[in-house]
Amino acid sequence: MKKIVPEMLDELTDLFVDTFNAPPWNDLWSHEQARTRLRDIMRMPNFLGAAEYREGRLVGMLMGHGEQSYDGMHFQILELCVANDMKGQGIGGRMIREFMEYLDRKGVTSVYLLTMRGAASEDFYAGQGFRTVDEMCVMSRRHSE
Ligand SMILES: CC(C)(COP(=O)(O)OP(=O)(O)OC[C@H]1O[C@@H](n2cnc3c(N)ncnc32)[C@H](O)[C@@H]1OP(=O)(O)O)[C@@H](O)C(=O)NCCC(=O)NCCS
Repeated sequence: MKKIVPEMLDELTDLFVDTFNAPPWNDLWSHEQARTRLRDIMRMPNFLGAAEYREGRLVGMLMGHGEQSYDGMHFQILELCVANDMKGQGIGGRMIREFMEYLDRKGVTSVYLLTMRGAASEDFYAGQGFRTVDEMCVMSRRHSE
């Protein structure tokens, strides 16, 4: 895995759009929107990201940011994806494991993320030792309706 640096933004954007506009998410990201999102994440304080390459091609990425809490640093994973034609080959699992080991060494006390309840990604993260937090809920309010 390589540490994500700003020069990778364009290839990260291509991977992100290809992955999230495909099943199971079928999102509708434009290249520009995705580029802006990833650029903004990469500018966050305590940003950290990892990229996986196969024969010079970007096939996986993981990114998020650290947040100070009263019991130490927490880390939120904001994006994780593996190229559509490379899924199911162990890449995502290995990336998470190596990333978690790195965060452990840095003294991070808690890692969390948001994903859709009941989606395949929930099973994926459960397999990596994450648990669905029953005692918390995500709240949102739409302003366009
Ligand atoms: C989720 C994702 C990152 C997993 O990466 P991957 O390289 O395909 O996963 P791996 O091959 O490393 O699989 C690791 C484990 O998770 C399991 N797993 C992977 N995809 C799964 C799925 N769709 N449903 C259930 N389990 C799954 C595998 O069976 C494997 O288990 P094992 O270690 O016991 O064999 C990848 O499929 C992806 O990019 N999906 C689209 C984007 C996404 O959903 N991102 C995360 C949510 S925001």
